[in-house]
Amino acid sequence: MLESVLQRIDNGLEGSIERWADLLRIPSVSTDPAYEGAMREAAQWLRDELAPLGFRIEIRETEGHPVVIGHHEGPGDDATHVLYYGHYDVQPPEPYAEWRNEPFEPTLENSPHGRKMVARGAVDDKGQLMMWVEALKAWHAEHGGLPIQVTVLLEGEEEVGSKNLRPVLERYRDELKADVCVVSDTGMWDVDTPAITYTLRGLLYTELTCRGPGHDLHSGFYGGAIENPINGLTKVLGALQDGQGRVQVPGFYDNVVEPSDEELAAWKALNMDDAGFLASAGVTTAGGGESDRSLLERVWSRPSCDINGIIGGFTGNGAKTVIPREASAKVSFRLVPDQDPDRIIESLRRFIDDHTPAGCSIELTVHSAAPAIRIPTESRYLKAALSALDAVYDREPVLLGSGGSIPIAAWARDILGIDTLLMGFSLEDDGMHSPNEKFEVTCFHRGMRAHAALLEQLR
Ligand code: BES
Ligand code: MN
Ligand code: MN
Repeated sequence: MLESVLQRIDNGLEGSIERWADLLRIPSVSTDPAYEGAMREAAQWLRDELAPLGFRIEIRETEGHPVVIGHHEGPGDDATHVLYYGHYDVQPPEPYAEWRNEPFEPTLENSPHGRKMVARGAVDDKGQLMMWVEALKAWHAEHGGLPIQVTVLLEGEEEVGSKNLRPVLERYRDELKADVCVVSDTGMWDVDTPAITYTLRGLLYTELTCRGPGHDLHSGFYGGAIENPINGLTKVLGALQDGQGRVQVPGFYDNVVEPSDEELAAWKALNMDDAGFLASAGVTTAGGGESDRSLLERVWSRPSCDINGIIGGFTGNGAKTVIPREASAKVSFRLVPDQDPDRIIESLRRFIDDHTPAGCSIELTVHSAAPAIRIPTESRYLKAALSALDAVYDREPVLLGSGGSIPIAAWARDILGIDTLLMGFSLEDDGMHSPNEKFEVTCFHRGMRAHAALLEQLR
């Protein structure tokens, strides 16, 4: 049954690329209210794309952007039931000036691997979710139905921490229940080496707002006598980590799972190119961080803390002597299994109180909190995915960790009681979240083929 579907995917590649580009033209930026209309348009576009396959599919409202939920019975109740998840929202295109083309005018360019699609969302996650949408379409066109039961869940708030996903999973728990959740939103090892990702870090995203005097002050009249909120804020920020990047919040490392010797050996065997990794970041030395651990270990298995932005005081041209009344910082923590975000929030609150200097106060806001996930590698579904990749690629698939976060994975386990299969096709240099984000056409093409092969494996 698979061979003719693969044929259809190959012959229909240009059509698939056109539909992928149609979705990319919709500027569905979730963080910016200015794009609210585009968010709905993207949700409707996906609904209209899947409905003709016989999905009962609709847009459901949330407190934020809507989700799309659809069902297809496939051959009936006894068949394997997959919950396909993807996110239709994208990151903002800024810095705008650094794009070679308009971010929402998808452009095919030549690449060392053939062709690549350049646009915001090309890979994250529109290109990746279109691979399974197109595989389902090809199967349906070829065989007049689907070989498994399918539920789809398309989210519009992944890039802002999936704030309303938990309530959606809780409210529609029975409806979303399946055997396994399938997600394409992660990477390959390299362009020829496919991969399944089995660990993701979680993310706790917070904001610290430090307030002091009732209004901005002359730093000559008051400096040295009155606590400056930026000084106060940086005292707390500076205390958060030691020189090795170890987070100083009490209990932060409680429950952190160390990778096993077996895992460490497997990671070592991947022969990570450390210099290439550093070069991809535009640096030559790692610096910071836990220098007694390999770079891969640090990104895949260790928690971290980053200040993403600092706001406050005088930032105009030239100089102004001022003690501002307020300053704030966006602080995020990447979490690993089995750290508990809720306990860390409580401990962080106490830590901030203990380190806030007299004369100012710091308010903690939690923007989002999602735990890390570790997916059992022994499951029948993971084996099916490895076989599917094997069928499409010459090189054997590998198991990877990842430093990124996709909240659905932990919540699918905790709320729906199912594992997630992270079968992704992005490359390290795809520039997710960066200007000129791209996805290789060969990755898109072989990704569609792999998803078709996965249908064959699961039927
Ligand atoms: N697709 C990424 C996550 C990712 C990237 C996983 C590369 C594995 C490899 C996802 O869209 C993303 O950007 N997630 C956010 C998390 C979110 C909670 C804001 C992230 O990791 O910063
Ligand atoms: Mn993504
Ligand atoms: Mn992303």
